[in-house]
Amino acid sequence: VKLLIAGAGGHGRVVAEAAESTGQWTEIAFLDDRHPAAAQASGWPIVGSLGELERLAPEFAGCVAAFGDSALRLGVLARARAAGFKSPVIVHARAAVRGRARLGPGTVVFAGAVVNLDAVFGTGCIVNTGATVDHDCDIGDGVHICPGVHLAGSVKVADACWIGIGSCVIQGIRIGARATVGAGAVVIRDVAAGHTVVGNPAWVLRHE
Ligand SMILES: CC(C)(COP(=O)(O)OP(=O)(O)OC[C@H]1O[C@@H](n2cnc3c(N)ncnc32)[C@H](O)[C@@H]1OP(=O)(O)O)[C@@H](O)C(=O)NCCC(=O)NCCS
Repeated sequence: VKLLIAGAGGHGRVVAEAAESTGQWTEIAFLDDRHPAAAQASGWPIVGSLGELERLAPEFAGCVAAFGDSALRLGVLARARAAGFKSPVIVHARAAVRGRARLGPGTVVFAGAVVNLDAVFGTGCIVNTGATVDHDCDIGDGVHICPGVHLAGSVKVADACWIGIGSCVIQGIRIGARATVGAGAVVIRDVAAGHTVVGNPAWVLRHE
């Protein structure tokens, strides 16, 4: 079973390692626009540029988009699905995704992360290293939960949010679409769509 990962940057290589840890993929390869100048990344082959996505669909069972930018990630994922790829969920062997949590297509969960009971994720999300997402959280599409984030129970995060490294969010908070939570923030009030919050307690730094 062959997995194609679009994007061979730092994030893509961690996706590859997570996929390898599952033992479910016999072959892992990248697409990246640095091809053909770059032919491999961390030992996995780069087999083409992004333009070759559609052509490779018959050869690979699944495709995951591995870009930090959520619009790019969701766009490439949609292209892959339209081309006939499956978009698997990748959960690192050393992550804990509890029963009845639901992860949308193309979502990746890295080592040390915990996704607790009845949490729900949309398409193309990232649960980065050591992050915890507690029971009943409801996460939209294209959300990046950065390393070491803690979301308490029943937090709602809308589409395309970026929850910065080491931040925490108390129970029941709602975070609007495209919002950014700064590194280390402590979120104790709802965050409106398109707002960036930082600090403890988190305050609005800017908005769209
Ligand atoms: C919040 C954030 C997006 C703002 O970035 P930015 O728009 O470039 O902001 P700036 O660096 O221009 O900082 C603007 C002000 O906010 C402050 N600030 C920025 N980030 C802050 C943070 N996380 N906590 C507290 N204050 C912060 C800065 O000190 C600065 O204050 P000043 O005007 O008094 O000097 C960014 O700082 C951040 O925290 N990103 C998260 C990164 C991350 O999680 N990376 C992990 C990737 S896996």
